[in-house]
Amino acid sequence: MTKEYVTDERRLLHGGDYNPEQWKDYPEVLEQDIELMKKSGVNTVSVGMFSWASLEPKEGVYDFEWLDQVFDRMNSIGGKVILATPSGARPAWMAKKYPEVLRVDSLRRKQLYGARHNHCFTSPYYRSKTQEINHKLAERYQNHPALLVWHISNEFGGECHCDLCQEAFRGWLKTRYNNSLEKINQAWWGPFWSHTITDWNQIESPSPIGENLVHGMNLDWKRFVTDQTIDFYKNEIVPLREVTPDIPITTNFMSDNPEFIPFRGLDYSKFAKEVDVISWDAYPAWHNDYEETYELASKVAFINDSFKSMKQKPWLLMESTPSLVNWHQYNKPKRPNMHYLSSMQILAHGSDSNLYFQWRKSRGASEKFHGAVVDHDGSAENRVFKEVSQVGATMDELSAKIVGTQRKSEVGLLYDWESDWALEDAQGFGLTTKHYPQTLQKHYQAFWEKDIPVDVITKENTFEDYRLLVVPMLYLMSEETIQRLNNFVANGGTLVSSYITGLVNERDLTYLGGWKKELQEIFGIEPLETDTYYPGDSNQIVYADQTYTVKDYATVIEVKNADILARYTSDFYAGTAAVTSNEYKKGTAYYIGARANEAFNRDFYNQLIEDLDLKPLLKVEHNIGVSVQGREEADQTSIVFIMNFTEEKQIVNIIEKAQDSFTGEEVTGEITLQPYEVKVVDKII
Ligand code: GLA
Ligand code: ZN
Repeated sequence: MTKEYVTDERRLLHGGDYNPEQWKDYPEVLEQDIELMKKSGVNTVSVGMFSWASLEPKEGVYDFEWLDQVFDRMNSIGGKVILATPSGARPAWMAKKYPEVLRVDSLRRKQLYGARHNHCFTSPYYRSKTQEINHKLAERYQNHPALLVWHISNEFGGECHCDLCQEAFRGWLKTRYNNSLEKINQAWWGPFWSHTITDWNQIESPSPIGENLVHGMNLDWKRFVTDQTIDFYKNEIVPLREVTPDIPITTNFMSDNPEFIPFRGLDYSKFAKEVDVISWDAYPAWHNDYEETYELASKVAFINDSFKSMKQKPWLLMESTPSLVNWHQYNKPKRPNMHYLSSMQILAHGSDSNLYFQWRKSRGASEKFHGAVVDHDGSAENRVFKEVSQVGATMDELSAKIVGTQRKSEVGLLYDWESDWALEDAQGFGLTTKHYPQTLQKHYQAFWEKDIPVDVITKENTFEDYRLLVVPMLYLMSEETIQRLNNFVANGGTLVSSYITGLVNERDLTYLGGWKKELQEIFGIEPLETDTYYPGDSNQIVYADQTYTVKDYATVIEVKNADILARYTSDFYAGTAAVTSNEYKKGTAYYIGARANEAFNRDFYNQLIEDLDLKPLLKVEHNIGVSVQGREEADQTSIVFIMNFTEEKQIVNIIEKAQDSFTGEEVTGEITLQPYEVKVVDKII
């Protein structure tokens, strides 16, 4: 892998969201900021995401001086600026004069001015106004040496149901269905409950107060929301591409919290194609009372690897907190060393930055208690500031080895937004136990525990890049996807799938005539029934002489050509196949019919890891909770992070040759890691 993409070829970015416009009346604070940035190893700030009222205080009256100063100050310390466009929030004068910029919610209520992230994506006025202000920003800073990256708006998300958006939705449908209401009625299963549409103006976006049980429409609406958001973004970047063609563009993606699963509001597999570099905002609830620290660490790794896999390039962590947030149910500060450990994990999984929200804690309004590098005490002596500085110093030292390096993986795990949307909407199975993203994260964890790098891919990725493809619970499968999976296995790939897979097509219409013949051939089976359990129900399967508990789902399988690897122990399907494997042409396809426990995932995937001889970047023996991940360069040298995500001391055994990345001292053999400690090593080859 080559260092083909870098945001700043000199170094990893350390810094984050900076809101100097809140401190214009406090010049001493702005002076102090620069001194403190130097002390904490901050080299990059992101500015302007919520600055519209400061940039254009009155319609047509602009003030860029305060921003000029930020650019110049950063430049004076050799720092860089990630410049945000301000569309995430707008001035009060604008909402008052042009109310079309405000959103209408799904209950058709016009939102009042206030908050943020709440504009209409269709409004022609807002679109032209954002282009105008973006153009001015681009012209003003195009030649400034501190300008590094464009940050478009902030955390795009949500939907608008105003008349303009309704019209845009109809237009989108006309394109998708070739102007044919007949095709829409077929796709949406129109005659059901008399939902046949006879005029375009009868189409309204889904609403809880109207009809939102037309699943085909719900799915199309979600697709439309993604497309319309991307369209808004594309409109924003027109002047930037024109004036600053060499400055990379990003927008900060998210995860869904507090569960820490992929963000469900937008299909990022589509959005990723439109940005130059992926960036995202990570806010895991470390030290919570409902999961082990390492389980959360594995989920963070999953999301990191999903963003990494979208472009197969280094990405940026745009936001994270150095201590605590203010919007979790309980806002607990990171324990000592957790900030350092979690920052190293971000680097290990492919980020070229650790950026924070926020540099300095606000004095007023809703984020005054959100963690920041600089607290209200303005001190460089507190625990948070010191740990941030330690991260800064380490990043500085590691920059040369890490910037631009890649991660490689032979395993692809497929996550699909459309399938998630359709399955969540499906009336059936267990209404609260579908857990598609969570199930994928559990499958991922089995590899994570063994330090096997996994790409969390989407349908946009090339399946052939992997030796093993893990595709659990892919409820919605187009014929095209089925064909691609068929080719993958036929050409020698190993495929794993599971219960609730391949039931509907891309219109959310079920396949007729039983499970698709192509799937039957690949897997050598036909799933006959999906049994859904009450929370108190369970079953067991016996796999390789071990017994494992099954909860939630069990598929009754008719075996055609496959080998049976596990059988159920009870219920009317006792003794029948629960897990199968099938040789199909040059490859193998496994079907896991039941939601078995974690122990099963571990044993099943460990066997596959062994069979396929999948290897970690560095071989280290350790207990569950220690993670070994890292990055490689073209010449095969690699930097590896051995991370202890447990509250106990851990003795690990480094089997392959390695040396301490800082001291160069050889560290092969046993070493002890303190709770939350991380050891950074270079693999010696
Ligand atoms: C989001 C936003 C930031 C800030 C943080 C707080 O990520 O992008 O502006 O509000 O949340 O955690
Ligand atoms: Zn709208």
